[in-house]
Amino acid sequence: MKRLKRKVFNAGLVLLLCSPMLAEDIRLLPPQFEKNATLLEALKNRCSERSFSEKELSLQQLSNLLWAAVGVNRPDDEKRTAPTARNAQEIDVYVAMKTGLYLYNAKDHILVFIHANDIRSKTGKQKFTETAPVNLIYVADFDKMNGDEETKIFYSATDTGFISQNVYLYCAAEGLGTVVRGWVDKDKLAIEMKLRPEQHITLAQTVGYIKQE
Ligand SMILES: Cc1cc2nc3c(=O)[nH]c(=O)nc-3n(C[C@H](O)[C@H](O)[C@H](O)COP(=O)(O)O)c2cc1C
Repeated sequence: MKRLKRKVFNAGLVLLLCSPMLAEDIRLLPPQFEKNATLLEALKNRCSERSFSEKELSLQQLSNLLWAAVGVNRPDDEKRTAPTARNAQEIDVYVAMKTGLYLYNAKDHILVFIHANDIRSKTGKQKFTETAPVNLIYVADFDKMNGDEETKIFYSATDTGFISQNVYLYCAAEGLGTVVRGWVDKDKLAIEMKLRPEQHITLAQTVGYIKQE
Protein backbone atom coordinates (compact mmCIF):
# COMPACT_ATOMS: atom_id res chain seq x y z
CA MET A 1 0.00 0.00 0.00
CA LYS A 2 2.86 2.33 0.99
CA ARG A 3 4.68 1.51 -2.26
CA LEU A 4 1.54 2.21 -4.30
CA LYS A 5 1.08 5.56 -2.56
CA ARG A 6 4.70 6.48 -3.29
CA LYS A 7 4.25 5.48 -6.96
CA VAL A 8 1.15 7.67 -7.27
CA PHE A 9 3.00 10.55 -5.57
CA ASN A 10 6.00 10.16 -7.91
CA ALA A 11 3.73 10.01 -10.97
CA GLY A 12 2.03 13.23 -9.84
CA LEU A 13 5.38 14.90 -9.29
CA VAL A 14 6.62 13.88 -12.76
CA LEU A 15 3.38 15.16 -14.33
CA LEU A 16 3.78 18.48 -12.52
CA LEU A 17 7.41 18.88 -13.53
CA CYS A 18 6.66 17.92 -17.14
CA SER A 19 3.85 20.49 -17.41
CA PRO A 20 5.55 23.88 -17.38
CA MET A 21 2.62 25.37 -19.30
CA LEU A 22 0.21 24.58 -16.48
CA ALA A 23 2.67 26.01 -14.00
CA GLU A 24 2.57 29.34 -15.82
CA ASP A 25 -1.23 29.77 -15.82
CA ILE A 26 -2.40 32.72 -13.76
CA ARG A 27 -5.23 31.96 -11.36
CA LEU A 28 -7.27 35.15 -11.18
CA LEU A 29 -8.98 36.55 -8.10
CA PRO A 30 -12.77 36.83 -7.80
CA PRO A 31 -13.97 40.20 -9.09
CA GLN A 32 -14.32 42.95 -6.48
CA PHE A 33 -17.67 44.69 -6.60
CA GLU A 34 -17.12 47.21 -3.82
CA LYS A 35 -15.54 50.65 -4.07
CA ASN A 36 -16.46 51.21 -7.70
CA ALA A 37 -17.51 54.43 -9.39
CA THR A 38 -21.13 54.66 -10.42
CA LEU A 39 -21.97 53.76 -13.99
CA LEU A 40 -22.69 57.39 -14.82
CA GLU A 41 -19.36 58.48 -13.35
CA ALA A 42 -17.57 55.85 -15.47
CA LEU A 43 -19.41 57.05 -18.57
CA LYS A 44 -18.49 60.62 -17.72
CA ASN A 45 -14.78 59.68 -17.54
CA ARG A 46 -14.62 57.22 -20.45
CA CYS A 47 -12.02 58.24 -23.02
CA SER A 48 -9.17 56.94 -25.14
CA GLU A 49 -5.71 57.31 -23.66
CA ARG A 50 -2.41 56.96 -25.56
CA SER A 51 0.19 57.66 -22.91
CA PHE A 52 0.90 54.75 -20.57
CA SER A 53 3.34 54.18 -17.73
CA GLU A 54 5.16 50.85 -17.44
CA LYS A 55 3.69 50.17 -14.00
CA GLU A 56 2.13 46.71 -13.79
CA LEU A 57 -1.52 46.18 -12.92
CA SER A 58 -2.15 44.33 -9.67
CA LEU A 59 -3.52 40.80 -9.88
CA GLN A 60 -6.83 42.13 -8.54
CA GLN A 61 -7.00 44.79 -11.27
CA LEU A 62 -6.17 42.24 -13.95
CA SER A 63 -8.84 39.93 -12.55
CA ASN A 64 -11.45 42.68 -12.42
CA LEU A 65 -10.53 43.86 -15.92
CA LEU A 66 -11.01 40.45 -17.52
CA TRP A 67 -14.17 39.70 -15.62
CA ALA A 68 -15.59 43.08 -16.66
CA ALA A 69 -14.57 42.44 -20.27
CA VAL A 70 -16.18 39.08 -20.80
CA GLY A 71 -16.45 37.23 -17.50
CA VAL A 72 -19.23 34.84 -16.52
CA ASN A 73 -21.88 36.85 -14.65
CA ARG A 74 -24.57 34.14 -14.63
CA PRO A 75 -22.83 30.88 -13.70
CA ASP A 76 -26.00 28.78 -14.07
CA ASP A 77 -25.95 29.09 -17.84
CA GLU A 78 -22.41 30.44 -18.27
CA LYS A 79 -23.53 33.71 -19.79
CA ARG A 80 -21.20 36.69 -19.90
CA THR A 81 -20.90 40.39 -19.08
CA ALA A 82 -20.96 41.12 -22.84
CA PRO A 83 -23.70 39.93 -25.21
CA THR A 84 -22.92 37.93 -28.36
CA ALA A 85 -25.11 37.32 -31.37
CA ARG A 86 -26.94 33.99 -30.92
CA ASN A 87 -24.91 33.59 -27.71
CA ALA A 88 -22.04 32.24 -29.82
CA GLN A 89 -19.43 33.56 -27.33
CA GLU A 90 -16.98 33.54 -30.20
CA ILE A 91 -14.64 36.31 -29.06
CA ASP A 92 -11.58 35.05 -27.21
CA VAL A 93 -9.62 37.58 -25.20
CA TYR A 94 -5.87 37.09 -25.37
CA VAL A 95 -3.60 39.02 -23.05
CA ALA A 96 -0.09 40.09 -24.09
CA MET A 97 2.13 41.04 -21.16
CA LYS A 98 5.86 41.21 -20.44
CA THR A 99 5.73 37.61 -19.16
CA GLY A 100 4.12 36.23 -22.31
CA LEU A 101 0.85 35.56 -24.05
CA TYR A 102 -2.22 34.24 -22.23
CA LEU A 103 -5.81 33.33 -23.08
CA TYR A 104 -8.64 34.26 -20.73
CA ASN A 105 -10.71 31.22 -19.81
CA ALA A 106 -13.88 32.89 -18.53
CA LYS A 107 -15.50 29.72 -17.24
CA ASP A 108 -12.63 28.99 -14.84
CA HIS A 109 -11.63 32.68 -14.49
CA ILE A 110 -8.02 31.85 -15.24
CA LEU A 111 -5.37 33.09 -17.65
CA VAL A 112 -4.12 30.13 -19.63
CA PHE A 113 -0.46 30.38 -20.57
CA ILE A 114 0.14 30.22 -24.33
CA HIS A 115 3.83 31.08 -24.65
CA ALA A 116 6.53 33.11 -22.93
CA ASN A 117 7.31 35.56 -25.75
CA ASP A 118 6.73 39.25 -25.08
CA ILE A 119 4.73 40.16 -28.18
CA ARG A 120 3.35 43.49 -26.93
CA SER A 121 5.14 45.44 -29.67
CA LYS A 122 3.49 43.19 -32.28
CA THR A 123 -0.01 43.99 -31.03
CA GLY A 124 -0.12 47.37 -32.75
CA LYS A 125 1.73 49.96 -34.75
CA GLN A 126 1.80 52.59 -32.01
CA LYS A 127 4.88 52.94 -29.82
CA PHE A 128 3.08 52.74 -26.48
CA THR A 129 2.08 49.13 -27.15
CA GLU A 130 5.69 48.07 -26.52
CA THR A 131 5.79 49.15 -22.89
CA ALA A 132 2.20 49.39 -21.64
CA PRO A 133 1.69 46.48 -19.22
CA VAL A 134 -1.38 44.93 -20.86
CA ASN A 135 -2.48 44.59 -24.47
CA LEU A 136 -5.72 42.71 -24.99
CA ILE A 137 -6.25 41.07 -28.38
CA TYR A 138 -9.79 40.19 -29.40
CA VAL A 139 -9.96 37.10 -31.59
CA ALA A 140 -13.13 35.84 -33.26
CA ASP A 141 -13.30 32.07 -33.61
CA PHE A 142 -15.38 31.56 -36.75
CA ASP A 143 -15.61 27.84 -35.92
CA LYS A 144 -17.99 28.81 -33.09
CA MET A 145 -20.31 30.76 -35.43
CA ASN A 146 -23.02 29.86 -37.91
CA GLY A 147 -23.90 31.61 -41.15
CA ASP A 148 -21.98 32.95 -44.10
CA GLU A 149 -18.68 34.85 -43.98
CA GLU A 150 -20.37 38.27 -44.15
CA THR A 151 -22.57 37.46 -41.14
CA LYS A 152 -19.60 36.17 -39.16
CA ILE A 153 -17.57 39.31 -39.86
CA PHE A 154 -20.47 41.60 -38.96
CA TYR A 155 -21.47 39.82 -35.75
CA SER A 156 -17.91 39.30 -34.50
CA ALA A 157 -17.08 42.98 -35.05
CA THR A 158 -20.26 43.98 -33.22
CA ASP A 159 -19.62 41.57 -30.35
CA THR A 160 -16.06 42.90 -29.97
CA GLY A 161 -17.47 46.40 -29.55
CA PHE A 162 -19.42 45.39 -26.45
CA ILE A 163 -16.36 43.81 -24.85
CA SER A 164 -14.22 46.80 -25.67
CA GLN A 165 -16.75 49.18 -24.11
CA ASN A 166 -16.85 47.03 -20.95
CA VAL A 167 -13.08 47.48 -20.74
CA TYR A 168 -13.40 51.22 -21.33
CA LEU A 169 -15.92 51.52 -18.51
CA TYR A 170 -13.92 49.38 -16.09
CA CYS A 171 -10.81 51.47 -16.79
CA ALA A 172 -12.72 54.71 -16.36
CA ALA A 173 -14.07 53.49 -13.02
CA GLU A 174 -10.63 52.30 -11.86
CA GLY A 175 -8.66 55.35 -13.03
CA LEU A 176 -6.72 53.34 -15.62
CA GLY A 177 -6.06 54.36 -19.21
CA THR A 178 -7.14 52.40 -22.27
CA VAL A 179 -7.52 52.68 -26.02
CA VAL A 180 -9.09 50.24 -28.46
CA ARG A 181 -7.05 49.80 -31.61
CA GLY A 182 -7.69 48.72 -35.17
CA TRP A 183 -4.27 49.82 -36.39
CA VAL A 184 -2.73 46.37 -36.09
CA ASP A 185 -0.81 44.20 -38.54
CA LYS A 186 -3.23 41.33 -38.06
CA ASP A 187 -1.47 38.84 -40.32
CA LYS A 188 1.85 39.24 -38.52
CA LEU A 189 0.21 39.19 -35.11
CA ALA A 190 -1.74 36.02 -35.95
CA ILE A 191 1.58 34.30 -36.66
CA GLU A 192 3.06 35.48 -33.35
CA MET A 193 -0.04 34.16 -31.60
CA LYS A 194 -0.01 30.87 -33.53
CA LEU A 195 -3.68 31.25 -34.45
CA ARG A 196 -5.67 28.76 -36.54
CA PRO A 197 -7.00 29.94 -39.95
CA GLU A 198 -10.54 30.16 -38.49
CA GLN A 199 -9.38 32.57 -35.77
CA HIS A 200 -9.59 36.22 -36.84
CA ILE A 201 -8.19 39.17 -34.92
CA THR A 202 -10.85 41.87 -34.71
CA LEU A 203 -9.27 44.59 -32.54
CA ALA A 204 -6.66 45.11 -29.83
CA GLN A 205 -6.90 47.25 -26.70
CA THR A 206 -4.14 48.62 -24.49
CA VAL A 207 -4.64 48.99 -20.74
CA GLY A 208 -2.35 50.55 -18.15
CA TYR A 209 -1.73 53.37 -15.73
CA ILE A 210 -1.79 56.78 -17.35
CA LYS A 211 1.69 58.30 -17.65
CA GLN A 212 1.95 61.52 -15.68
CA GLU A 213 3.91 63.99 -17.85
C1 LIG B 1 -13.02 50.39 -34.14
C2 LIG B 1 -12.07 51.39 -33.53
C3 LIG B 1 -10.73 51.38 -33.90
C4 LIG B 1 -9.83 52.28 -33.33
N1 LIG B 1 -8.52 52.20 -33.64
C5 LIG B 1 -7.62 53.01 -33.02
C6 LIG B 1 -6.21 52.85 -33.23
O1 LIG B 1 -5.75 51.98 -33.97
N2 LIG B 1 -5.39 53.66 -32.56
C7 LIG B 1 -5.81 54.64 -31.70
O2 LIG B 1 -5.00 55.35 -31.12
N3 LIG B 1 -7.15 54.81 -31.47
C8 LIG B 1 -8.05 54.02 -32.10
N4 LIG B 1 -9.40 54.12 -31.81
C9 LIG B 1 -9.85 55.11 -30.83
C10 LIG B 1 -10.54 56.30 -31.49
O3 LIG B 1 -9.58 57.07 -32.17
C11 LIG B 1 -11.25 57.10 -30.41
O4 LIG B 1 -12.28 56.33 -29.85
C12 LIG B 1 -11.81 58.39 -30.99
O5 LIG B 1 -10.79 59.27 -31.35
C13 LIG B 1 -12.73 59.09 -29.99
O6 LIG B 1 -12.03 59.35 -28.79
P1 LIG B 1 -12.60 58.86 -27.38
O7 LIG B 1 -12.56 57.35 -27.37
O8 LIG B 1 -11.67 59.44 -26.37
O9 LIG B 1 -13.99 59.35 -27.28
C14 LIG B 1 -10.30 53.26 -32.40
C15 LIG B 1 -11.66 53.26 -32.05
C16 LIG B 1 -12.54 52.35 -32.60
C17 LIG B 1 -13.98 52.36 -32.16
